[in-house]
Amino acid sequence: MILVTGGAGFIGANFVLDWLARNDEPVLNVDKLTYAGNLGNLSTLDGDARHLFVHADICDNEAMAALLAQHRPRAIVHFAAESHVDRSIHGPAEFIRTNVNGTFSLLEAARQYWGALGAADKAAFRFLHVSTDEVYGSLGPNDPPFTETTPYAPNSPYSASKAGSDHLVRAYHHTYGMPVLTTNCSNNYGPYHFPEKLIPLMITNALAGKALPVYGDGQQVRDWLYVGDHCAAIRRVLEAGRTGEVYNVGGWNEKANLDVVHTLCDLLDALSPRADGGSYRTQIAYVTDRPGHDRRYAIDARKIERELGWKPAETFETGLRKTVQWYLSHQEWVANIQSGAYLKWMESNYGQRLAQSALA
Ligand code: NAD
Ligand code: DAU
Repeated sequence: MILVTGGAGFIGANFVLDWLARNDEPVLNVDKLTYAGNLGNLSTLDGDARHLFVHADICDNEAMAALLAQHRPRAIVHFAAESHVDRSIHGPAEFIRTNVNGTFSLLEAARQYWGALGAADKAAFRFLHVSTDEVYGSLGPNDPPFTETTPYAPNSPYSASKAGSDHLVRAYHHTYGMPVLTTNCSNNYGPYHFPEKLIPLMITNALAGKALPVYGDGQQVRDWLYVGDHCAAIRRVLEAGRTGEVYNVGGWNEKANLDVVHTLCDLLDALSPRADGGSYRTQIAYVTDRPGHDRRYAIDARKIERELGWKPAETFETGLRKTVQWYLSHQEWVANIQSGAYLKWMESNYGQRLAQSALA
């Protein structure tokens, strides 16, 4: 079996669902179920013996060691993290705890387990660390995209904590020879995306008749990748990646935030028109910028294509349409997520911003 951490979150749940849709190798899914973890994402696996869920914290080294000893996975795919940049600005401590200390605790448990394996199992074992393009910092408009050798320059507490975890993973290969792999991916979008992030937030706010809060001038650029393509890249790296190597994963889809929001509004105008006949674009509100906001990310994904034959299957147009349709047909999932804790976050991040904003 494989052990997946953070498999109740956005990408982790998509990964577990895709994995079990393609083969019968069981998944041990270890998740703390923070505000971002949701077992509802995995409800289609209820009663499926190939999926074993364990409610645990990766910072609990003894629990991780016990799980490894009991279930003896051939690989660990490590998604668990605090993942939202804005939350890292409001409260960085949890990011250091889970992303740095938690990855360290998991690496230590993995090192003990891996060190005691027989020669063949030891050689076959993999620790795949799922990371982000944000560790490389921010690009100017004419800079070339990030490659695997771009120097690290993380700018937010989130990206700094992910950079710390990347360095630990790298060191475990260099020092102990542990067979690790690291992927650094660009912005994902798709089903089960928690509506605190740009794309699901805009869809859910638009449908609820609320403001669509665009930070600053909306000209920040992100590279967007459909989550199913990210899952395929991770499967491929796990299968054939060279240990100790880093693979950048991206969609070759650089878009300014405002263009993304306009495209979403246009899709919603077509697929779920407003009762008053107006466009969702009128709900756009320019709000105070994110402190330290990275201006542009772009990924050079040629290494993974050249070495492992992976490239994205979805275009931004096909992926975004699928995503909007998924949210339209899963409004109960959205309603369940919008609990008291979610409303509190929305007020603390947007309350003052929106009070000072100008509608577009
Ligand atoms: P998410 O916030 O949706 O999910 C994170 C999951 O980890 C949740 O299920 C949560 O309960 C769990 N978790 C958090 N702390 C934990 C702990 N201490 N112990 C066990 N479980 C814990 O995140 P996501 O967007 O699915 O991102 C998954 C991974 O991919 C992260 O490592 C993130 O840095 C990375 N990544 C995300 C993106 C993106 O666009 N979302 C892009 C590149 C890389
Ligand atoms: O690049 C990969 C990263 O992408 C991942 O490592 C992170 O886990 C993931 O959250 C994401 O980070 P971003 O900060 O790029 O994503 P977010 O969806 O929060 O914001 C995308 C862009 O949209 C960013 O420039 C900020 C802007 N934005 C975001 C929100 C939530 C707004 O303008 N308004 C908003 O309300």
